[in-house]
Amino acid sequence: MEHNITHPALSALSTDALNSEQLQAFERDGVIVLPGRFSADEVESINAALVELIAENVPENIREKSSGVVRTAMGLHLRHELFRRLVNDPRLLVPARQTLGGVPIYAQQVKVNAKEPFTGEQWQWHYDFATHHHEDGVPEPLALNLHIFLDEVTEFNGPLMFIPGSHLDGPAPTSLDTTTTSFPLWTVGPDVVSSLAQRNALVCPKGPPGTMLMFGDSVVHASPPNMSPWPRRIFSLIVNPVSNRQRSHRRADHLHHRDTTPLR
Ligand code: SIN
Ligand code: MN
Repeated sequence: MEHNITHPALSALSTDALNSEQLQAFERDGVIVLPGRFSADEVESINAALVELIAENVPENIREKSSGVVRTAMGLHLRHELFRRLVNDPRLLVPARQTLGGVPIYAQQVKVNAKEPFTGEQWQWHYDFATHHHEDGVPEPLALNLHIFLDEVTEFNGPLMFIPGSHLDGPAPTSLDTTTTSFPLWTVGPDVVSSLAQRNALVCPKGPPGTMLMFGDSVVHASPPNMSPWPRRIFSLIVNPVSNRQRSHRRADHLHHRDTTPLR
């Protein structure tokens, strides 16, 4: 398939749409792994661009509670040309558009979760829609979270865990947790996680840099701290249909971008 990315560091490998088996698996599980979507060279360029962005002392860089190192660098497409190109990359957008029926989508959040060696803290059990709905007034759980692994993700460096199919009963009950980490999050309690996980088990996608993940807005997920000596950086683009945009604007722009111009 043709594509129109011109940044020298982003040379498309595969823009393939999901096949019918992959579409079915995504509907069933709410999460899908797409290996080898970005090359090692591309990931190296992304990581190189990230060095100067993470060094900046700006509100878009959110720091870990206990160590002060950067947990999440946000608003990246407004801070660096490479990320501006990346949010329009067809390898991310083709499968997202496909599952949303081709409606116009905008970049709701553009970040890297850094999870530094030894200091990267956990992400509590949650699903993204709870925060999008309670904080931003997003009406429906339609947003998609598109990840690119920027380091090899292993069992050691704080990988994400998902409860596949946890979206099928509709959004689970949540409560706001402002104390566990520096990032306020609407979280799912242990009783709900236990019953969902006992029914559906857990999956923990691992893989080399360049692996892509796509998951839905009401799929329950979490990740443990990074106690290893290796980083676990993950790029995350959240896309949302323009018709499902935020109704409340109380959070800062980098947490939910106000610009709903459709991505290319
Ligand atoms: C993580 O980076 O481990 C969590 C990301 C997410 O919850 O979307
Ligand atoms: Mn999440």
